[in-house]
Amino acid sequence: MIAPSRQAKIEYGDFQTPLDLAKLVCQKLGGLGVAPDVIIEPTCGIGAFIEAAAYQFSKTKTIIGIEVNETYLEEVRTRKSNFPAQERVTLKQENFFDFDWKGLLKENDGSVLVIGNFPWVTNSQQGMIGGTNLPDKANFQNHNGFDAMTGKSNFDISEWMLIQVGDWFQNRKGYLAMLCKTAVARKFLSHLHANKKGLFRSAVYGIDAKKHFGASVEACLLFCEFDGASHNYDYDVYESLEATEHNRVGHRRGMTIRDLDTFERLGNLFGTSEMKWRSGVKHDCSEVMELAERDRVLVNGAGEKVDIESTYVYPLLKGSDVANGRIKTTNRFVIVTQKIVGEPTNTIKHLAPKTWKYLESHAELLDNRKSRIYQDNPRFSIFGVGGYSFAPYKIAICGLYKKLEFSLVGEIKNKPVMFDDTVYFLSFDTEEEARKTLYFLLTQSVKDFFSSMIFWDEKRPIKTSILNSLNLQKPQTAQVLRLFEKKPRTRARK
Ligand SMILES: C[S@@+](CC[C@H](N)C(=O)[O-])C[C@H]1O[C@@H](n2cnc3c(N)ncnc32)[C@H](O)[C@@H]1O
Repeated sequence: MIAPSRQAKIEYGDFQTPLDLAKLVCQKLGGLGVAPDVIIEPTCGIGAFIEAAAYQFSKTKTIIGIEVNETYLEEVRTRKSNFPAQERVTLKQENFFDFDWKGLLKENDGSVLVIGNFPWVTNSQQGMIGGTNLPDKANFQNHNGFDAMTGKSNFDISEWMLIQVGDWFQNRKGYLAMLCKTAVARKFLSHLHANKKGLFRSAVYGIDAKKHFGASVEACLLFCEFDGASHNYDYDVYESLEATEHNRVGHRRGMTIRDLDTFERLGNLFGTSEMKWRSGVKHDCSEVMELAERDRVLVNGAGEKVDIESTYVYPLLKGSDVANGRIKTTNRFVIVTQKIVGEPTNTIKHLAPKTWKYLESHAELLDNRKSRIYQDNPRFSIFGVGGYSFAPYKIAICGLYKKLEFSLVGEIKNKPVMFDDTVYFLSFDTEEEARKTLYFLLTQSVKDFFSSMIFWDEKRPIKTSILNSLNLQKPQTAQVLRLFEKKPRTRARK
């Protein structure tokens, strides 16, 4: 059981900003030329930003703090008398999700600065603790049915709040300065771009979340300026509030580019190929479908001995195996019930009766797999399978690791290797073909090209959309190969 105080901290995403950091942020805004008529702190907590803003922005007419927790507001009220021109400060106990923000904005003329640090909590964390501090479900944006079905639908409440704030500025001049996860800032800025919302300029400044909040997360100050007319979506990313060096991020060809300068320099590598990067097998039931060989006996995830035909059993490499170069042998196996997605599975009954019996005897687990994709497909179905899965040679990379390292994987025990769904791979019929492509992938240009699109702070930084944006067509490969043959390299690293 979670202690009630801890439960509330999670539910309200409660990480109060230290006053020192709030002051640094406000000084930074001053340096950026921010001079608002009105300041709004929409979830003000114990008021670090109200206090810092009162000192920094002497010309501001009104400072408004909204917060759901009355005890926190009491705390601000007791300190308020020391703030410069404290009569400008209004505090209100309100819930962000119900409050009439448009009404408040109408009542207050002039340019607005929305500043603060929204709750640090995701909808799935709320789900786990039975929390209700969420917007109305119908209001969650852009989470389509497929995502929800496969359980990917997890988002930060702060992202949702930022999107609301972005809308306040569509007919209004002003600024947004919010501490948040770097990934949330990126998603919000992508949202503005994708929905063609107005934006004059924006930037992201890294902050040390461990130092200021004791949280192990990449966090930042997100800064946006809105002028009611411009649509500028490229933004600068700085490592810290003090940093002067930065890289330019932007949206090109349907992708978010981390380093526009490098991407533009290597733009000739962008393109489509017949060959596609695929992800490994998805079965959502490792207890039954994954087997380990111990003393020449196969054992499933529940520790039971499994005596089945080898027909549907393939060697398995996990993402961690691929990332750590354990690719020559394996004692793990996976039952691959189909050669292509949707293929009828009842033939297994005749071709491999022991396998069918094994699957049937574990049908309760398999039939109850949560994702709806299994319900609409033949019994014991798997996903992430096709002709490509059975090719003898593969170039593989794990999407979860923070390194750009490709491995050439051949057959193990005379059978094509399968990967779990954290691995991306290309398939080849011959080793020679695979090696040629590997050499190309190991060139510095390709490494730089991929790196220009990878955000290393993401949980799965390497994605098929990035890998598939490299033109793998043969002429280009051959061209690079000629250069490469003169100067061989080993493995590419980040
Ligand atoms: C990450 S803390 C930051 C507090 C303050 N903005 C700061 O920078 O110190 C998030 C704050 O949001 C408040 N909060 C959470 N849910 C809220 C809601 N639905 N409406 C208003 N405030 C909320 C919490 O009580 C907490 O004070």
